[in-house]
Amino acid sequence: MKKLLESAGVLDASLRRIRREIHRNPEVSGEEKETAALIVRELEACGCFAIRKNVAGYGVIAEIKGALPGPVIALRADTDALPVAEETGLEFSSCNPGVMHACGHDLHTAMLLGAAMLLAERRAELAGTVRLIFQPAEEDPALGGSKAMIEAGALDGVSAIFGMHVWPELPSGVFAIRPAEMMAAADHFAVVIRGKSAHGAQPHMGNDALLAGCQFVQAVQTVVSRNVDPFDAAVITVGEFSSGVTYNVLAEECRMEGTVRTYSPEVRNLVQARMREVLAGICLALGCTGELINISSHPAVINDKALAERCLQAAGKIFGNENVVIPDRPTSISEDFSWYGKKVPAAFGFLGAAKPGEPSWPLHSCHLSPDEDVMVKGAAMYAAFALGG
Ligand code: NI
Repeated sequence: MKKLLESAGVLDASLRRIRREIHRNPEVSGEEKETAALIVRELEACGCFAIRKNVAGYGVIAEIKGALPGPVIALRADTDALPVAEETGLEFSSCNPGVMHACGHDLHTAMLLGAAMLLAERRAELAGTVRLIFQPAEEDPALGGSKAMIEAGALDGVSAIFGMHVWPELPSGVFAIRPAEMMAAADHFAVVIRGKSAHGAQPHMGNDALLAGCQFVQAVQTVVSRNVDPFDAAVITVGEFSSGVTYNVLAEECRMEGTVRTYSPEVRNLVQARMREVLAGICLALGCTGELINISSHPAVINDKALAERCLQAAGKIFGNENVVIPDRPTSISEDFSWYGKKVPAAFGFLGAAKPGEPSWPLHSCHLSPDEDVMVKGAAMYAAFALGG
């Protein structure tokens, strides 16, 4: 393992070069054309890969066959950027106005390419096949990057999959994983309430959809405070609300959108059922009709216990045992990596990336600037997982 880390250290300059090139040219979900071309170029440069291009859009899948027999192990990185205008002031800031690698996927891609280089050198000791999955469209649930990659065969024959996310809430050089729930299930919902318009001075002649909407926004919070077990967790946020046409007309329609975060299928089902009941009850009381639409959803990221243990062992050797943590709670952020875990045993870890002594901006912030130093260890960690921990 020491040798693996040493070899990764040699790649430091290459990883920074690759990461900066990707950071400078960010592409949003579904448009990762140049990023995919760069990935293919780098894979070809380290030689002898079976490379599949244009998988589920601009996804890339490459395989490294070991000299020894063994299982197919998948490693995944996501490649897309966000519609965020960068304000980091970095010398390699985005050249694509309004688009930024604000979730660190540029580092993920560079690290997985680093792992490809490390594993290509180690084919003699590699038992089985490593499948590198460069997945597009993580950030857009409507495109559903991971689901599309799975449908395109990314997991065919795979016995385990591993992925990572750079994590600005943890100091650089720390690796974290839970042998349980790691990230939340996310359900993006919309509510449409229809009432009956009337003169604002004659509310008794209509049914006020705006009032019903306001009551729903408040009442839906009781699902968390009064229906979910206090020892379970759930979040319901209505983040968008629109209703009415002018000040003196009763609103005929109210529309809102929001997100639900949960960790277990039971709580998730309970929340969805109660939200519908609360909506139906309020609409009945106020003479309106209401519809709750589930726009998109990711299940929770739940780590396979044995694989998480394998990650902890490998991380101990790469990061040092004192830098490996098992968080006592999952995060309320979601990841479409969860779909891989629905199909095969999966493990997903967090790679601390907060620069020492500097303010740490959250994921999706226009100021996000993860510590590039983590990439050497991240690449080694990907490779270590593939080599069996
Ligand atoms: Ni991300």
